[in-house]
Amino acid sequence: MRGRYSANMDLSEFLTFLETRSSVREYDSPVPDRSLISSLIRCASQAPSAGNREAWDVVVVTDLSLREGLMEAAYEQRHIGGAPVVLVISANYIRSMSQYGERGILYALQDATIAATYMMLAAHAAGLHTCWTGAFDEKGVAELLGLPQHSRAIVLLALGYGHLPPYRTERMPPDEHVHYDRW
Ligand SMILES: Cc1cc2nc3c(=O)[nH]c(=O)nc-3n(C[C@H](O)[C@H](O)[C@H](O)COP(=O)(O)O)c2cc1C
Repeated sequence: MRGRYSANMDLSEFLTFLETRSSVREYDSPVPDRSLISSLIRCASQAPSAGNREAWDVVVVTDLSLREGLMEAAYEQRHIGGAPVVLVISANYIRSMSQYGERGILYALQDATIAATYMMLAAHAAGLHTCWTGAFDEKGVAELLGLPQHSRAIVLLALGYGHLPPYRTERMPPDEHVHYDRW
């Protein structure tokens, strides 16, 4: 079956899926089921990674005082304290550097970013809301959650059921990203 499987998704439907995701910064209190959170992480583990090293980790934070600590580390961004769950996704340098040396730093950052993206999109598919949050004090987050030296937190992903903003953010015309053959 696997050898024969070929996705034949309607791309306009896929685009609609992507266009209907927005960063959500207002959350209600219900906590998503543990099993749902596990499913998001299972989706993330399907992400590609350099040498299949899966050089990423995630801390699932639900404890209120820890979420408040994360909010403080994120320069008081309210959605971090307000979301019932914060997924702290980190790059695992040892897992990648043990195979790739210095280059493994970049690979681990990429592995973690892709895994976090899969979690964000899986959450959207499941009707959950997220806000990718990159502005935070790394030392503060590492100390609060006891991250080991070889782990670098790259994103705090606020997660829960919330309220979409009334308008979607604009995008630049896609062609402005593109260069053909040479820049
Ligand atoms: C690398 C990165 C860092 C971000 N950091 C923050 C942040 O610290 N706080 C925040 O509220 N949103 C943050 N965002 C969310 C962006 O503001 C948001 O994705 C962008 O404005 C587009 O809006 P949309 O997600 O609703 O489509 C970040 C997104 C990315 C990819």
